Amino acid sequence: MAQDNGNNKEIIYVGDSKVRANGPKPAPKDYSEFPGRTEPFFPNFLLKEWMVAVVVLVGFMTLVMAEEPPLEKMADPNDTSYIPVPDWYFLFLYQLLKFKWASGPFVVIGTVVIPGIALTALLLAPWLDRSKERRPLKRPVATGLMLLTLVAMVILTWEAVDEHEKQMASAPSGGGDGGGEIVAADDPAYTEIYKNQSCAQCHGENLEGVNGPSLLGVGKKLKAEDIIQIIDNGRGAMPPGTFQGTDEEKKKLAEWLAKQK
Ligand code: HEC
Repeated sequence: MAQDNGNNKEIIYVGDSKVRANGPKPAPKDYSEFPGRTEPFFPNFLLKEWMVAVVVLVGFMTLVMAEEPPLEKMADPNDTSYIPVPDWYFLFLYQLLKFKWASGPFVVIGTVVIPGIALTALLLAPWLDRSKERRPLKRPVATGLMLLTLVAMVILTWEAVDEHEKQMASAPSGGGDGGGEIVAADDPAYTEIYKNQSCAQCHGENLEGVNGPSLLGVGKKLKAEDIIQIIDNGRGAMPPGTFQGTDEEKKKLAEWLAKQK
């Protein structure tokens, strides 16, 4: 309290004797003061949290049991056509590094700066955005940034998958890609014709390649007519006249090989 005594200005401090400094803390406000806007942490809030957690967990477990995890096949050092990519959940970061301004000399931008800014912003979000508003539409900045990030992640992931598939399709596969399985393994063209010809000595009983290249996946680049040509005329280290049989059998064999995709 300030008092004016003529020219002498004097300040007198007054304490409120009704509040004791070490006294009991004032009781927390009653929930009834905020009808509909608050609830006790235990059990109401915790129960809701728990129910959501159960739904998410059960859903997750069901998904894991119903769907094979999308993992890559076993590593194979002989498969030179293999193009490694990160698992799907990191593909967007991988794709980011393909931009000119985030690769080569600027790779730090793609690996540290951009992810760093995004993660720090996420970490600081509770301090940066102090709005009490909870409806997403009333928080355009936070909602907009989140949507932008989500859209960017989806687009980048999609682009990465698309480019990878195109790369795989155009990858040079020296005599089949040596990967994958035999297609239509019960076809008589395989069980009766291929296995009884000399082909298997060089290309392997299971098309895996021995003295010649693997023929697994050979249908990706050769049509049946091309294969007949190769059988008739030979090519490179493959001599002509390796096929001992009728033209009909040769055709069936070539058509079956063309199915190896
Ligand atoms: C003496 C070993 C040998 C025999 C027997 C042989 N091949 Fe080959 N074959 C090769 C070699 C080596 C190549 C790779 C030729 C090249 O480099 O251009 C080849 C290439 C091929 C290709 C092309 C593969 C590609 O990826 O371009 C086909 C198809 C093929 N052979 C089919 C057959 C069939 C069918 C038979 C049986 C009728 C057969 N070969 C018998 C050695 C053999």
